[in-house]
Amino acid sequence: MHATATSNLTPASGPAAAANHVYWQRCQDTHVANAGYYQRVRSVLPLLCELHLAPGHRVLDVGCGNGEYSAVIARHCAWLDGIDLAPALIDQALALGLPNADFAARGVDTLDRLPDAAYDALFVMGVFATLHGGLFEATVAQLQRLLKPGGVLITRDSVTPAQDVVRRVNDGYHAHYRSADHYAGVFTAAGLRMQRAVYLETFTGIDNYFFVFRRD
Ligand SMILES: C[S@@+](CC[C@H](N)C(=O)[O-])C[C@H]1O[C@@H](n2cnc3c(N)ncnc32)[C@H](O)[C@@H]1O
Repeated sequence: MHATATSNLTPASGPAAAANHVYWQRCQDTHVANAGYYQRVRSVLPLLCELHLAPGHRVLDVGCGNGEYSAVIARHCAWLDGIDLAPALIDQALALGLPNADFAARGVDTLDRLPDAAYDALFVMGVFATLHGGLFEATVAQLQRLLKPGGVLITRDSVTPAQDVVRRVNDGYHAHYRSADHYAGVFTAAGLRMQRAVYLETFTGIDNYFFVFRRD
């Protein structure tokens, strides 16, 4: 992964953002939903890779966690970079020993160090609900910049049917589940067009999807 400039993206401030930052920095296990949900994720992800990746592609997996899904993606592309706030999870990802991937412990606030149009495809799975106070919008804008024209951003996220909900999930971690309209509007405003939505499951009133956005 090549770095070019210093960061001007700052981690969001405020008590919820600060608690989340600490929670995820110390995180060793990202599984907070039921086992069936992850099984469904494991069955859908390879299909999305088949549809949207090509063997020569360079891919960035943002908030890659322990690299479990990065390993699936890496089978469908030439090179994968994975980043995550949690050093313990990055150690687990590195221990997978993937031949065409590298992983680094760094937050989304460092994305502006990467060059324009560096990637053919981006994956951000289960991450945006952890970003508060403007960091979600700033991150989506950076992701648009990192994508080549025609490239895809594949997200997996929890959205609500009507209004945003901020809910305590674990310890200090508060998740921000955005309404489907709010969520989609942020990508549209950044110049990313929603191409596909794959429904996964609804639990505790929150709908979970894979979304595919394309940079025109
Ligand atoms: C629910 S887990 C999802 C992990 C993985 N993508 C998956 O699908 O299993 C959310 C991940 O986002 C990471 N994360 C949270 N805030 C972050 C930030 N500001 N920058 C980078 N990663 C972050 C966490 O450390 C955690 O690994």
